[in-house]
Amino acid sequence: MSWFETAFGAHYPLLYAHRDAAEAAAAVGALERLAPLGGDPCLDLGCGAGRHLAFLARDRRQVVGLDLSMALLVAAGATAAAAGAALVRGDMRRLPLRDGRFGAVLSLFTAFGYFGPLREHAGVIAEIARVLRGGGHWYLDYLNCAKVRRELAAADAPRRWRESGPLAIGEERSLAGDRVVKQVLVRPRPGQAAAAAALGVPAAGLAYAEEVALFAPDELDALAAAHGLRRAAAAGGYAGESFADPEAPRWLLAYRREERS
Ligand SMILES: C[S@@+](CC[C@H](N)C(=O)[O-])C[C@H]1O[C@@H](n2cnc3c(N)ncnc32)[C@H](O)[C@@H]1O
Repeated sequence: MSWFETAFGAHYPLLYAHRDAAEAAAAVGALERLAPLGGDPCLDLGCGAGRHLAFLARDRRQVVGLDLSMALLVAAGATAAAAGAALVRGDMRRLPLRDGRFGAVLSLFTAFGYFGPLREHAGVIAEIARVLRGGGHWYLDYLNCAKVRRELAAADAPRRWRESGPLAIGEERSLAGDRVVKQVLVRPRPGQAAAAAALGVPAAGLAYAEEVALFAPDELDALAAAHGLRRAAAAGGYAGESFADPEAPRWLLAYRREERS
């Protein structure tokens, strides 16, 4: 089983409980300012538990959320129903969606970079370009790779333990060449075995290593351009921080799909 099949189970939203609806609204607002998100329909690629769906559905007729994780799609059900969004189970490497269907595709909160070094993502980018119509945009909300690389190279990142609901979570990040690796241990807190089991966390706990690609912006630009996607705009965070700021909290990138011939 690949790490991303274990990591994005029913327990995942508790690991990132601070990544909430307010932050989702800020992310959608920031991307809308980057390049017009008018594209209808729009695809939330790797939608997880669906926290962005309501904000995407506010100004457009059709929103589709796609994810590989059945547990997270189930969690997204109520939000999607309220927003009138459709949910699809699928793999971003082989999208079960027809060519040129979408005006916008969004990869939000690092829903990208899971398949090894950046060059291994050509297939995902080809799929995004295939389902976008000419003039539509791909929006990527990613970690600031340069900052992550600098911080992890400068200091040891000790394992940190924290608690969320019935879970105790241990995390340790390190650099591994062109990837950042986070070793994750998730265990039931004392007396919380039943509640943790309901989230798919057994008494013995879950252990896995998240791996996310680190790259320079021009490497992504080149890979995207090879599939007809040209960078249109960039920002450094949800509050409109500058992309050029080395301390920018995030990388927000918008790529425009060339017209189809
Ligand atoms: C970091 S989470 C972000 C979720 C959501 N966008 C959010 O902001 O809450 C990444 C999402 O990508 C999904 N994912 C991982 N690998 C995938 C794949 N191969 N195809 C489709 N979705 C995938 C995960 O299940 C997870 O929901």
